[in-house]
Amino acid sequence: MVIFGAAGDLTKRLVVPALYNLANNHRLSEQFRLVGVDLADMSAEQWRAHLTDAMKGYVGKDGEFHLDEFVQTTWQWLTEKMSYLPGDLSNPDTYRRLDQHLAGLDKTAGTAGNRLFYLAVADRFFGPAVAALGAAGLTAESGRQWRHVIIEKPFGHDLASAKALNAEILKTLRERQIYRIDHFLGKETVQNIMVLRFANGLFEPLWNRQQIDHVQITAAETVGVEQRGKFYEKAGALRDMVPNHLFQLLSMTAMEPPLSFDADAVRAKKTEIIQAIKLLDPDEALKDAVRGQYGTGRVLDEEVRSYRQEPNVAPNSTTETYVACKLTIDNWRWAGVPFYLRTGKYLKSRSTEIAIRFHQAPYALFRGTDVERMHPNWMILRIQPDEGIALEFAAKYPGPTVRLDTVSMNFAYKSYFNVEGSTGYETLIYDCMIGDATLFQRADTVEASWQVAQPILDAWANNPPRDFPNYAAGSDGPAAADELLARDGRAWRPLA
Ligand code: BG6
Repeated sequence: MVIFGAAGDLTKRLVVPALYNLANNHRLSEQFRLVGVDLADMSAEQWRAHLTDAMKGYVGKDGEFHLDEFVQTTWQWLTEKMSYLPGDLSNPDTYRRLDQHLAGLDKTAGTAGNRLFYLAVADRFFGPAVAALGAAGLTAESGRQWRHVIIEKPFGHDLASAKALNAEILKTLRERQIYRIDHFLGKETVQNIMVLRFANGLFEPLWNRQQIDHVQITAAETVGVEQRGKFYEKAGALRDMVPNHLFQLLSMTAMEPPLSFDADAVRAKKTEIIQAIKLLDPDEALKDAVRGQYGTGRVLDEEVRSYRQEPNVAPNSTTETYVACKLTIDNWRWAGVPFYLRTGKYLKSRSTEIAIRFHQAPYALFRGTDVERMHPNWMILRIQPDEGIALEFAAKYPGPTVRLDTVSMNFAYKSYFNVEGSTGYETLIYDCMIGDATLFQRADTVEASWQVAQPILDAWANNPPRDFPNYAAGSDGPAAADELLARDGRAWRPLA
């Protein structure tokens, strides 16, 4: 496995911790070798030391990745397999040296000759790096030896650039060699959506417009843009989260049952559902998609600055840090069922969830009782944190009169399973090694997703916001997001 961007943030935060976890679970073979490539001029020894420091920092921490215990023998096993090659990705010589280095490893380590290239680099390098790998003969497969390339996010910044990038890399690679990452698919709770829907007889009959009133998909974050201003200024919340992560949640929730778990069977159904999302015209885009940008405020008991005061952000920036939109899916299962999506930085609480609201029962029977309103049934798929699934329904409040309360049946992953600290990248890297692309984005899925996002991007570009900042850091988001649902007589589930 070769990591481009070996000295970077992603490598140390997610990729190497995932490899450590795989090693701990004996998922890497004895002949596995890891080669780091980066511009930084350092030795293999220095690279290992840099990673060792990072790994030790995860012990006992409660962050994105944490370790209860650092297993020295595993780490040693892994570090012994690491080598480092300083090199500039825009220089063909880097790839020539890499080829020699890998050939050397095949001989000395007896590797099987397979290659996994992980592009953990800025997106402008994706196309050129793939072309250069090809030119150096590093992507050509022969016999049973495979060549796979993992491409990180963001895959394009709009429909045209995503198409251009697909066209460019497909000149060198075949689709089945390309593994486009969306790390949400590495989350157990996201993978479980298919199991919930298709391994249970109970839910699937309810999963349609006859029973479901609407769906809310939320990815609320309590982090701001932190040190990523330069990237985020150009991206914004819509590009950063919607056509990728939120659409993964939407497609898992809304897809038709695939004929098998075969990668293409699953991905075809997911693509189909995204293609069935009704494209918004310019007026609808302005009405059904709302944007926000955070001002100053208090998040998790700390005063924070506004987006426009963040490093590398323009003082009059019009980049959105919040987006909410209403989408409809034009097919037999979902016609008339709105899907409301929202995501934002610096919100009141951290929560990623899919909330399914069932139709309300008729009130007639309760007329003349103390019951003033009916309680709707909700099914909540909690993706993170506090992973689990809840089903909310009405129950009679104990007492002589008829009063209702909402109660919840709650499944929490941690009370059933021993959930080990993981980055979510373990499954993805392992799947790439065994050639299972189910959890990766296919070219047509990516393009279909951008196709849906594009009218919103265009409408916003043509109509700059006049009210930014329009939500306080630490709040629920902008008022316009509430109005979006209020217009339909609905309301967001409050952020806890
Ligand atoms: C990334 C985005 O892809 O996903 C970030 O670039 C975002 O802005 C992150 O914070 C959210 O992922 P997770 O796994 O923390 O929910």
